Amino acid sequence: MKKKIFLCTYGCQMNEYDSELIESILTADGFVLAADIQDADIILLNTCAVRNNAERKVFNHIDDIRHELQGKPVYIGILGCVATHLKEQIIKNKKRKIDFVVGPDSYRQLPDIIRKVIKENEKIFDVSLTTKENYEDITPTRKEGINAWVAVMRGCDNFCTFCVVPYTRGRERSRPMENILDEVRSLAAKGHPQVTFLGQNVNSYHDNQFDFADLLEATSAIEGIKRIRFMSPHPKDYLEKLINVVANNPKICKHIHLPLQAGNDRILQLMNRGYTKADYLSLVDKLYSHIPGLTLTTDIIVGFPTETDADFLDTVEVMEKVRFASAFIFKYSERKGTIAAKKYPDDVPEEKKTERIMKLNDLQKRISFEKNRSWIGKTLPVLVESETIAKGATQFQGRSDGYVTVVFPPGNYKAGDIVNVTIQEASSHWLKGIHHTPDA
Ligand code: 5AD
Ligand code: SF4
Repeated sequence: MKKKIFLCTYGCQMNEYDSELIESILTADGFVLAADIQDADIILLNTCAVRNNAERKVFNHIDDIRHELQGKPVYIGILGCVATHLKEQIIKNKKRKIDFVVGPDSYRQLPDIIRKVIKENEKIFDVSLTTKENYEDITPTRKEGINAWVAVMRGCDNFCTFCVVPYTRGRERSRPMENILDEVRSLAAKGHPQVTFLGQNVNSYHDNQFDFADLLEATSAIEGIKRIRFMSPHPKDYLEKLINVVANNPKICKHIHLPLQAGNDRILQLMNRGYTKADYLSLVDKLYSHIPGLTLTTDIIVGFPTETDADFLDTVEVMEKVRFASAFIFKYSERKGTIAAKKYPDDVPEEKKTERIMKLNDLQKRISFEKNRSWIGKTLPVLVESETIAKGATQFQGRSDGYVTVVFPPGNYKAGDIVNVTIQEASSHWLKGIHHTPDA
């Protein structure tokens, strides 16, 4: 009988994409997807190790699963970044009863590993990292929807001192451009009007012949693709050529997620980010002036070791100057094995981290609201994503080019269409409007 798999995914979009790859690898090998945890023979957790609470969530979830199953036998496998981060420790912990641990470069071996675990009842552990694995010949099992994630490169060579990714995902490698374009062509043919290119460091994509700007340009020529997004680029390697392509190509969304992490030069240096506050601000000036209507979003870490109140104010200053449309703000979380964990004690008190994160969240909320309010009265092209219920009434929901959620009444359109919506109302998280003909 075919074995049933239930897969839980945590963390970033790259993990969402990897889960689609994993489903594809397993179903091609005769496994089937279980309807729920109770129905599964094997439970896989595709995990995130970027912050301590992400890791904790995984282990809490395993406890919940065991509780829910009330002794029903099941094999449990840990995949993804926690696998490479904690390695043997996961299996050695007898209480957790994990059967196999498989890192991000070993998913091709999963069917064999699972069979062996079942047949020989032994624990298996494969977290080796390669410099080549790109899964370029595997077509991920896509979820339905407007957007399709496409990993164009994997791994990271930047070694920001706080970050575990270079250790959990290994060295940077890019897929050949033609191989990515084939995937996008097939996505367009299956009705995905939007692709989002993923990479830990997406703008350092290159396949020896073509760079990231070439890839964006070539993708925009594919029929059926209406919008192209990408994340996350690194501020230290922004190229003139890329700015021009984003500015001049109407299919490339005018939204850039540009992780700042911190605004203070000393902290940026300790983080090994490769830019100063002035570099970041001058890049932002350049982006705003070359790309009309550009929206910027960001990631920020508060409470990096030794960050003082005065250092923190530099981050506040950059946020006030740049006016991001939204920001993901995190408390520094020490990750074992990173340079920061080895060199700098986690010395900013928890209360300070809380105070700083609250301050930045409040500031961002105000800025997001002001920015969103400035859209009132304007008409934006919106890519329709889905139906939603708001205050008991059916509404449509989509995203503006700048990635803001827009809600508007139903009309003669469907998911995947681009419609013009005139904005009437705004909050810090969404815009509301009415559909306005003619469609874009
Ligand atoms: N602590 C807190 N936040 C972190 N990030 C990465 N590593 C850490 C860490 N150790 C954040 C960064 C990154 C985002 C994906 O997660 O802001 O851009
Ligand atoms: Fe981590 Fe820095 Fe690489 Fe991003 S660029 S994945 S933060 S090491």
